[in-house]
Amino acid sequence: MSMAERVPNSLPQTLAGKRAIITGGTAGIGRATAELFVEHGAKVVVTGRDLERAKNIQPLIDQGHALFVQQDTSDEKSWADVISRTLEAYGGLDILVNNAGRLIVKPLPLLSHDDMKLMLAANLESVFLGMRAAWPHLTKTGGNIVNVSALMGAKTAAIGLAYSAAKAAQQALTKSAALEGAAHNIRVNTVLPGVIWSDGWKRLAGEKQDETKTSVSANIPLKRVGEPREIAQAIVYLAGDEARYITGIEMTIDGGSFAG
Ligand SMILES: NC(=O)c1ccc[n+]([C@@H]2O[C@H](COP(=O)([O-])OP(=O)(O)OC[C@H]3O[C@@H](n4cnc5c(N)ncnc54)[C@H](O)[C@@H]3O)[C@@H](O)[C@H]2O)c1
Repeated sequence: MSMAERVPNSLPQTLAGKRAIITGGTAGIGRATAELFVEHGAKVVVTGRDLERAKNIQPLIDQGHALFVQQDTSDEKSWADVISRTLEAYGGLDILVNNAGRLIVKPLPLLSHDDMKLMLAANLESVFLGMRAAWPHLTKTGGNIVNVSALMGAKTAAIGLAYSAAKAAQQALTKSAALEGAAHNIRVNTVLPGVIWSDGWKRLAGEKQDETKTSVSANIPLKRVGEPREIAQAIVYLAGDEARYITGIEMTIDGGSFAG
């Protein structure tokens, strides 16, 4: 049984009455976050580029806990629609989770200027656009933002340099926004996932799922990859009122990789 099919009352209602936008929420970490938010009592607006993938969250929609809005997060105009649909459906906004992101792994000589622009648009500009669009509504509710960056933004590797650079910039953006937001009743935090076995990784591994998992796990102190729901748990905590004194932090959820 998928998380979406569970009766959403088996957990403490940490997010009862909260209204959230989760970008890129039809797959991977975003989907797990949408499902866990609903289990914790929230109503969610899930965005994504692909209408077809909205069926992944159909149970949440059918239960009246979610709606889907088609969006490319790097399209400035799309944000007005996402915000207005949220206000129309739920009457306000308490939480924005900027989860959508893209990864290109290529050696530097093969990285095109368009690749670099895509990395910046998907991982940095989108987050800026989302925060700016949500800001006036979050000030009204004392709301908060959780941005999904990556361990690779904090600890670079010899792969994915455009992605690392964009995520590092996203982290600077987030910390600045946290400082500015403190005067406006808005908290802003980041989560930094390590290797999380999401739909993205599954696509990347193709037919070599077990092989890839095993080789990646060997370099992780806890000797396994993470699950999307393990990131979702951290996002629920940071987005909830129990984290009311937390802003401007970067929480690594990576099986110990940052320490090692
Ligand atoms: N999975 C990991 O190991 C890992 C590690 C570090 C960071 N992250 C970050 O976590 C976030 C989620 O990653 P995931 O692994 O769950 O990915 P995923 O590919 O499984 O899912 C991402 C979802 O976001 C959507 N998306 C991407 N760009 C979009 C855009 N411009 N507009 C709207 N939707 C868009 C995708 O279509 C997809 O539905 C990303 O920001 C990623 O960089 C993931």
